[in-house]
Amino acid sequence: MTEEPGYILEIKNLNYSYDNRTNVLNNINLRIKKGEKIAVLGANGAGKSTLFLNMNGVYNSNSGEIYLHQTKITRKNINMLRKSAGYVFQEPDSQIVGSTVFGEVSFGLSNLKLPPDEIKEKTIKVLKEMGLYNYKDMPPHYLSGGEKKRVAIAGVIAMEPEIILFDEPMSSLDPGNSQMFENLLKKLENEEKTIIISTHNTDFAYRWAGRIIVMDKGNIIADNTPIKIFTSEEILKTANLGKPLLLQVYEIIKEKYGKNIMDYGNAPRCINEFAEWFCHL
Ligand SMILES: Nc1ncnc2c1ncn2[C@@H]1O[C@H](COP(=O)(O)OP(=O)(O)OP(=O)(O)O)[C@@H](O)[C@H]1O
Ligand SMILES: [Mg+2]
Repeated sequence: MTEEPGYILEIKNLNYSYDNRTNVLNNINLRIKKGEKIAVLGANGAGKSTLFLNMNGVYNSNSGEIYLHQTKITRKNINMLRKSAGYVFQEPDSQIVGSTVFGEVSFGLSNLKLPPDEIKEKTIKVLKEMGLYNYKDMPPHYLSGGEKKRVAIAGVIAMEPEIILFDEPMSSLDPGNSQMFENLLKKLENEEKTIIISTHNTDFAYRWAGRIIVMDKGNIIADNTPIKIFTSEEILKTANLGKPLLLQVYEIIKEKYGKNIMDYGNAPRCINEFAEWFCHL
């Protein structure tokens, strides 16, 4: 059966269980377009990492279908999905296999059997981009948590996948490196990559995402714009989510100075927008 055109990735009725008894993912249906910026939110154990591992073909779903560019993924062509959808593991230790940082970041490129000069050039470029060039000869297990995370990100970016699944990419990054990661996201967006990020950082999700998917106990309970998600007290409560700070301040000011100041369609999503909105009050 041919799927509707326009989706880079489509998931239909996907179920996944680790023990063949209890479903960790329940009947997941998702349609993702090229270039989308999606944040996946949800409490610990909601199923975010499990969904990502299904989306890039590390795990095989118990039932359901995945389509990449309208081609159904089967055991035979699963490498197509693994190549197209790069996954940055939540725990870098699960991902890192190389004996040096350079070896780790160039690992995937070497598997593609690219010419050695091209591998070297691409690896050095990504190492510099991720602030890792000075660590290139070090064993990855000597690095700090945040440094390892950057190595894991670099290894996936080097492969230039069209879809990138970042699993809590900023959880161990300091503020400077978080900013560097956000700059990297801008670059990837300019390259029209499809980016999906699981995060507990609702401030980040609110300012960055174009679409937010909320998971709870293996189900997708909401799939909407950031403003629709974060103004639903029911969703926030069910999924254990905090309201973004900027939105909290916006609501307090609105409450204090009159409900008609501005509607949610124009709620500021970053500090600059907030400052501009505030100056116009
Ligand atoms: N390898 C595994 N074997 C068995 N159960 C697992 C395994 N990995 C995860 N689970 C279970 O699957 C459920 C979903 O886990 P998952 O890691 O996908 O959640 P998550 O939303 O990513 O959580 P977190 O925010 O803590 O990263 C949890 O109940 C977890 O205990
Ligand atoms: Mg997880």
